[in-house]
Parts: sequence; structure tokens; C-alpha cells
Amino acid sequence: NNPPWPAFRGYHTYSFANATMGVRLPTILSKAIQDALLTVNALSSEDLIKDLLECVKRMEQLKAELEGNGMLRPIKDDGEADVALWNKEVAKYFLGKDFMNATWLFAEAYKYRRLRECFTLSKHWADYDVFFRQKCDTFSRSSDAVFELSMRFAEPFQHDLTKKPMSQSEMLEAEKLVFHELTQICLWGNSTDLSLLINMTEEQIKSLQSTGGDHLAETEKNILGNHVEQLWDLVKKMKDKTRGRVDFVLDNAGFELYCDCVYADFLVQLGFASQIRFHGKRYPWFVSDVTKKDWEWLLNTMVYGYLFPEASEIERESLRKMGQRWKEYERQGIWVYEQHPFWCTGYTFWDLLNEAPDLFLHLSKSDLVIFKGDLNHRKLTYDCAAPAPTPFDQAIGSMASAAGAPPVCSIRTIKSDVVVGLGPNGDDVAAKLDQNEDGWKISGKYAVILLSQGRPG
Ligand code: F6P
Ligand code: MG
Repeated sequence: NNPPWPAFRGYHTYSFANATMGVRLPTILSKAIQDALLTVNALSSEDLIKDLLECVKRMEQLKAELEGNGMLRPIKDDGEADVALWNKEVAKYFLGKDFMNATWLFAEAYKYRRLRECFTLSKHWADYDVFFRQKCDTFSRSSDAVFELSMRFAEPFQHDLTKKPMSQSEMLEAEKLVFHELTQICLWGNSTDLSLLINMTEEQIKSLQSTGGDHLAETEKNILGNHVEQLWDLVKKMKDKTRGRVDFVLDNAGFELYCDCVYADFLVQLGFASQIRFHGKRYPWFVSDVTKKDWEWLLNTMVYGYLFPEASEIERESLRKMGQRWKEYERQGIWVYEQHPFWCTGYTFWDLLNEAPDLFLHLSKSDLVIFKGDLNHRKLTYDCAAPAPTPFDQAIGSMASAAGAPPVCSIRTIKSDVVVGLGPNGDDVAAKLDQNEDGWKISGKYAVILLSQGRPG
């Protein structure tokens, strides 16, 4: 049960897959090694130092394998919950393959599992996150956008009834406007991802994160497939049901996660959802993806941290207030953080039903599953050369067609080759961009918000 289009592979020369496997991933590994060495420099215990240096050796070996296009091998039994799941896939599809001729999606995911193995084989460093410093750092450099949002949303949402009373439908119309805006904020939060923008300047971050009204109207034009109206209709219906549940399959930590939480907060406050389930990664993944530690770090730094020395006391208080509310949601079980092992595998979501039936069943109980970001989109669409007009629900296979498939929405800035859901003129739209804008598929300047209504079980 696979799509009829070929999956992208690293050996397609001049492709982004090729550049990623050959250049970007070794660079990411070099930075990871530097991070571990920085930690070594601050250690005093010989046991810890030697153990961490062994991890560094394994990372260097992995880097050499990547650069020399080595063969893929099974994951060593490091006691992790996902070894069997990984090795089943290695054995089934990829034994005898190298980094370049395995599918790009698998080979790239495999690299992150191998990176994990460098640490899980150690005595003391199994939970070390080589990307943690970078993730915290980018959030701390996002102060303008962080406070723009906290100053607006720290106080519980209220309709402005000071000028005149509002009817139910006027209120709903006002809520719709905020919903549109927050959907876009949640979307563009995805453009600041560390795996692509490692050396961003303060100014570049600011322009990517600008959340003002004019800016959003301008960027709406760049959403090439936009189902936000259908999304609103779906969410609106959830308000009548008292037990609406929304799931976020998260992407990146820091600023993107912060935007996701602002969005989730709005859905709860206005009674669209009574529960939000956030799905994160079990270990460091694609540089900036959210782990449990990142999740806790964000909420705690908002309440207790001193990340923004330049901020005013009013600004700091707004961040604290919002963080306290979010922590309270967590205490009450309104927000729940989860981390299923399947999210850190090389499987696409076409295989979710077969390889993780428990997870499929769990998601099928949701009223809306929002998949954030580029990697989740690649996994939903099998990361293959599907034509741009392909309707989203066809492109995601069983995640739309299997009995019990929940409504699925992909909110993604385009950062890699696969582009679907552009409508009947999609080929023309893509051809024009190919002609006029080099690299439009990897810049994160364009986006899609695509919805599948699912299929009740
Ligand atoms: O390395 C390429 C990639 O896998 C692309 O999917 C994307 O450019 C990036 O990494 C991850 O993006 P995101 O954080 O939006 O999933
Ligand atoms: Mg990511």
C-alpha cells in the first residue's frame, strides 16, 4: 500500500536530498561534536570525561560513515524501547543500502537514531542532548516576537464589549479573525528551525518572526494551498461538543513550540477544545524538535527564568502569567505531553496504522490532529515525487482513508521537495515558481495549511 510516485533518495544529484545527506548532515554532526567538547571542557570527573569522549569518538565514526557514504547497519541493542522497531525497518527495506541509495527520509532519520546510539551506549550520557544549547539560545534571541505575543495573550481572551453589546454571531466572527491570525502565527513559527538556519542573525530571526497584522496579510499570499476556512468550520463545530480534543504532533522547540502553545491556549480558553495532547520526541531529533526536556524548559523558563535581561517588568510579568496558566493546564490534565516511540523512527505515516496500531487508535479518538512542520509533512506524504495538484487526502494514504482516520491538518512552511495540495492549477503554480525563484521549496518562505476530514471508524 504505497503511493505510485518514487520516494526521494540522496543519490538524485543536485537535489536537496543530495545536499542534505552529503553536506548538511556532516555539518550538523560537526556542530554536535563541538557541543560535546564544550561540555567536556567544563567537567572535572575523569570517569565522566572519558565516557563522554567515547561518545565523541562514536560521533566522529558516524560522520566518517556519512561522508564516505557507508552502508547502513542495524541499530545496536542499547536497551532503548525502539530498537526492534528500527531494526525491523532496516532489515525489511534497507539492509545492503548506503546513506545515499536508501530513501532520503529513512537515511536522514537513521542518522539521528545513530546519533542517539552514540550516547545510549555510554555509562553516564544516555540523555545528553547535543542540540539543547542551540535550542535555548534561539529562543532567548526571539525576544521581540515572544513579548509581542505574551503582551497580547497573557490576559484571558475577552470580547470587547465596552463599545456595544455583541450578538453570538458577532462574537463568533471576532473569534474567527483571531483564529485566522493565530493559525498563521502557528504556521510561521515553523520557519525558525535550527537545522536550516544555524547561523541566523538577530535581524533575520526578527523578520521571520514578525507577527503584526500587515505582515500576516502579506504572508498569507505565500500559503500556496490554504484550507484555513475548512479548518475553522471544523473547529467551530467542536465548540458545540463539550469534549473536543485536539492533538498537536509537535515539530520544533523554543519559539515554534511557544507559538503552538499560544494557539492551543486560545482553543482551550474559547471552549473549542477541552483537552490538548502534545506529541513530542523521545530523544534529540532533526536538531530542533521538541523533547520532554525542551517542553519543561520552555514552561519553566517562562515562569522562573531570566532569559531576557532587556525586557521591562510588565513584559516579564506577561510571560510569567502565561507560563503559569499553561502549567496549570498541565496540572489539571487539560494539556497532556506524550512521547510515543513511533515518532522517532524512519517510517512514513503511511505505515502508522500497521507499525503503531496503538498510536493510530489513540489518534483516531481525536477531533483534530495537527501535524506541525516540514518533516511531519514529508512523513504524511511519503516524501515522494507526487504532483503538486495531488489532493491532500490522496497524498496521505491511510491517514485519510483508513477507517478511524481522524481529521488531519498539516501546518507547514515548505522546506523540502514534496509539494502537494496546490489545487487543479498546481502544476502551473509550481512551474512558475521553479522558473522565477530558485530554492522556493527550501526557503521556508512558502507554506501550506492542508486538511483532510478523515474517515469515521
Ligand atoms: O534536513 C531536511 C529536513 O528534514 C527538512 O524536512 C527540513 O528542511 C528540516 O529538515 C526540518 O524541518 P522541520 O523542523 O520544519 O520539520
Ligand atoms: Mg523540526
